[in-house]
This record gives sequence, C-alpha cells and structure tokens, in this order.
Amino acid sequence: MCLCWKTTTSRSRTYSPNSELAKPNISLAFDLLDLFWARLAVHIRAENLHLFPAIANAPASLFTGKGSLSTSEEAHDLLLRLRSDHDFFMKELAQTIKVMREIADNQPAGAKDVEDGRQRLIIIGKRLEIHNRLEEKRAYTWPVMIFDEPTVARLHERLRHELKNLPPRFAQ
Ligand SMILES: [Fe+2]
Repeated sequence: MCLCWKTTTSRSRTYSPNSELAKPNISLAFDLLDLFWARLAVHIRAENLHLFPAIANAPASLFTGKGSLSTSEEAHDLLLRLRSDHDFFMKELAQTIKVMREIADNQPAGAKDVEDGRQRLIIIGKRLEIHNRLEEKRAYTWPVMIFDEPTVARLHERLRHELKNLPPRFAQ
C-alpha cells in the first residue's frame, strides 16, 4: 500500500497526507494520516500473524532456491528485514501522529513543525515503497510455490479476515 489513495467519487482525485501538509491543510492531512496508519496496521498485523509465520515454519527443503524461489536462509533473512520494516513503520507513524496531533491542536501551525512532519512522511514513504516491492515480488509469491492449494486458500482467508479488522471509526 502507498501513502496515498484515490477518492471513490466520479471526479477521482488522489489525496495524501504529505500533499495536504504541503498546502498546508493540517486537518485533512491529519485525518488522511490517521486512516493510512490504521490501514497499514491491519496489513502489518495480517502479515506478522499469518503470512510470515507460514513462510518461517515451512520445511526448509521446500525452499529450493530455483527460479524466483529463494533458499530457506534467504527467506528467513527477508522475513527479518520485513519485520524490522514493520517495527519502523509503526514506531515512526505513532510518533508522527503524535506530532501532527499537536500541530492540529495548535493552529496556526509553525512552518518548521509542518516541514518536519512532511520530511518524516517522505522517509516513511520511501522505505514503504521498497518494502512493498520486496513483499509483492518475493514473500507474497512464495506460498503458491511451496504449499498445496487448500493451504494457500486457508492462508488467503486468514489474511482477508485480518484486513477487514479496521478500527470501528473507519468501518463503512
Ligand atoms: Fe509488510
């Protein structure tokens, strides 16, 4: 997922907390960041609880290292890196939400505080882009290569279930 999203109206427009901060539209930027944080949190929870353990607990012999399938050692190294990214995102976003709440509560916001918030989001966004690429091109492709169909279907169902667990304030 990226640090932006489109509205679902016919006049589709892309919003991101960063572009709203640049205007600055602090209130909208805060709401967008809050939603982004919640959506990212359910993704991270789904991966940490289901995808990563499924890969980590799979027999090493299934990771042949052939084609786009890694060796078991490479797979475990990647999981460590992805988990470390998750910890970084949650820690940084929690801190950024705290700072932005203070900015939103103390309008008019100081230019330096707003710029600091923007810079934090740029750093998070860049790391998230690389993270997503690694997951999409590697971790998410492995289950169909190493598990049978029913196992993959169960894993998909567990992931789907977790992704529905947005906080009630965002439920539609
Ligand atoms: Fe992830």
